[in-house]
Amino acid sequence: MRLSKRLKAITQFVSDNSKIIDIGCDHALLDIYLYQNLKNVSIIASDIHEGAVKQAKKNIEKYNLDGKIDLRLGDGLDVIDNNEVDTIIISGMGFYTIEDILTNPEKMQNINTIIIQSNTDIVKLRKFVIKLGFKIEEEVLVKDKDIIYTVIKFVRGIEKYSYDEIYFGPRILEDKNELFYEYYNKKLLKYENLLLQLPKGQLASKIHHLNLIRIIKKQVSDKKEPTK
Ligand SMILES: C[S@@+](CC[C@H](N)C(=O)[O-])C[C@H]1O[C@@H](n2cnc3c(N)ncnc32)[C@H](O)[C@@H]1O
Repeated sequence: MRLSKRLKAITQFVSDNSKIIDIGCDHALLDIYLYQNLKNVSIIASDIHEGAVKQAKKNIEKYNLDGKIDLRLGDGLDVIDNNEVDTIIISGMGFYTIEDILTNPEKMQNINTIIIQSNTDIVKLRKFVIKLGFKIEEEVLVKDKDIIYTVIKFVRGIEKYSYDEIYFGPRILEDKNELFYEYYNKKLLKYENLLLQLPKGQLASKIHHLNLIRIIKKQVSDKKEPTK
């Protein structure tokens, strides 16, 4: 079973012996891979759309895993009882959908790990999940078909973060790689262009963009060019 680079990056953060729900499983390929490659995991694969659940069922049957992966139709955490799960995986959705799903204090009680790849608003996502009582254990940038994604593993705990750590990710800042510089140099260009195009008088927006440009420049300026 071959997974996309994006989904593969998620799998490296999932531990043996965990009780997982993959919310918004769609094709369930991630869940099939996890079942095949981890020890002693229980997996609930769920989706809100019937079509997705049907496709997931076909894939699960194709890999002879019927009855091994528990497939459920429904919205977010509604499909589980309180003690069934300790690990949530959510990938390929926007921040506001993820926020809606995780705003469920009763069902979140026994969750100790959340692994997320959000398609939007990574900074808001970090702030939101930290407020739920989690800290960032691991993070990675991954490039898949020319798009750079961020995958984050949150675990229960308290850790204080600086502004830059919330913006870039504390674990990502500890180990800046080529993708980091590629991603943020592109963002820098985007914000510099946006700044030039801002209509006169938009002072708050101007200050916001100038601030982003300042903090990104600070973080990308330490890149050492290879010596010739
Ligand atoms: C773009 S797909 C991502 C599929 C897969 N997780 C991935 O990363 O490749 C998003 C999936 O989330 C499902 N979804 C959206 N909102 C949901 C919700 N509130 N509860 C469960 N599934 C949801 C959609 O039906 C869709 O199948």
